[in-house]
Amino acid sequence: MLVRQLKRVPFLHRTTKELWVGAKLLRARLRQAGARPRGPIWLQSTRRFPTPLRANGAQALKEQLRAHGLIVHEGRHTLYVPPQPELAARLGPVVEAFPPECGFKLLKRFAAPEHARYLYQADTTGEAALLGGIHEQARAAAALASLGLGPRLIDVVHLQAGDRDLCAMVVEHVRGRRPTVTEHGRLLDALDVLRGRERLSLANPSRYDCGDFEAPDCNGNLMVTDAGELRYVDPQLFLFDHAAVLGDVMDRHREVLHFGDRLRVVKGGERFLYQGLPGGAEVGRRDPDDRWLALDPMLAAHGASPRDRVVLDVCCNAGLMMAGALHRGARWAVGWDLPPVAAAAAELLPLLGAGRSTVVGRALHEDVELAPDVPAWLPVGDDALCLFLAAWHHVGFPPGVGALPWRFLVYEGREHEDAATCDANVATMERRWRCRAVASRVIADGLCGPRPLVLLARDRSPR
Ligand SMILES: C[S@@+](CC[C@H](N)C(=O)[O-])C[C@H]1O[C@@H](n2cnc3c(N)ncnc32)[C@H](O)[C@@H]1O
Repeated sequence: MLVRQLKRVPFLHRTTKELWVGAKLLRARLRQAGARPRGPIWLQSTRRFPTPLRANGAQALKEQLRAHGLIVHEGRHTLYVPPQPELAARLGPVVEAFPPECGFKLLKRFAAPEHARYLYQADTTGEAALLGGIHEQARAAAALASLGLGPRLIDVVHLQAGDRDLCAMVVEHVRGRRPTVTEHGRLLDALDVLRGRERLSLANPSRYDCGDFEAPDCNGNLMVTDAGELRYVDPQLFLFDHAAVLGDVMDRHREVLHFGDRLRVVKGGERFLYQGLPGGAEVGRRDPDDRWLALDPMLAAHGASPRDRVVLDVCCNAGLMMAGALHRGARWAVGWDLPPVAAAAAELLPLLGAGRSTVVGRALHEDVELAPDVPAWLPVGDDALCLFLAAWHHVGFPPGVGALPWRFLVYEGREHEDAATCDANVATMERRWRCRAVASRVIADGLCGPRPLVLLARDRSPR
């Protein structure tokens, strides 16, 4: 009501909106300062792709895409290009780097991702500042997806269009229908619950009283999948308390991620995560940051770095070694673990900005085949890097691991594994998986004692 009255006096409306948004910005920044996770907010590195598109601005870009016969949906801030034939020929190699069911949201405001802002036209200066950089928007989309209300966001990419830099969000395309009024009500109810629990606030002063929440389809932003799931596709107004959303996911899966016995190092036998969260946001028995620091020089010395490679992680646990590989520029990461553990990893990774990943829930055993789990669209070649870390005492040395298309494999043994056991295991892998050890060292990280780390290599995969 007040907003409607204010709208009659544009100057007063605008000034009130600036003040309101300014206050909200201050509150959000203060809250973030208190709960800011250490380490980067978006883990995976930004990949850059050349594109044959040439345009000086959003209008020209839209015309060019449509002149090529592509379907393009124009929003206030983005041009959304859904999956369709001929896309790879028009957008370039970025299309084949992602699953075929992905759509590309090209930001109308041209900039490389590190400088990109989502809003093309902001109503207020404060609103643009409140929403932050493109990775803040990407995290909002990932949070909405993890809450079951939005499509999966896979990546934010840099498109090099001649001398112009473009930024695109790569999202799972939603094939949905228009919602009913009841389904629209379900969305607002779900948002109200999140707002009530202080997980979410809205960046606009009029809250639901704006086109983006209008019944029934929120200005085209709300769809319903065949399975009846709500999908809100443009969460630009959503400000999440990310630490709290992440905390909820961790709490839901804490039992399965506390792999192993209770640690007796703490009074009462407190249990720790197996893999600690990046940046020390939550400690674990193992420290993926330190493990990668130990691995980096060994891999680099043998041309085995994860950069531009597919990384395969057998017994991946929470997937945080996969996240480290994506941070180092891996093209994609595929991990396997027991179904409940894999479910936790699949939820966690996109929230940490490590969505270039597939996690497969599977109980591994001697006869298991893993190669069919590698997504068929993924151009792996035979050059992948396979992680087989602290895994052999759980799953043995299945031939299925040897049949994966890797060129390098990192073996990590058990805590305090003696040299004779490690040598015997290396001999087994060399024989079964047709590879040879090329480097080794000892690692002690997190709360653990020393264990051996061996790099194995082969000239070509057996495929
Ligand atoms: C010691 S943890 C190592 C995790 C990870 N590789 C790392 O080093 O951080 C062992 C992992 O193996 C998984 N695991 C145990 N038995 C398994 C099985 N039969 N199939 C698949 N995963 C299994 C556990 O869930 C756990 O995540």
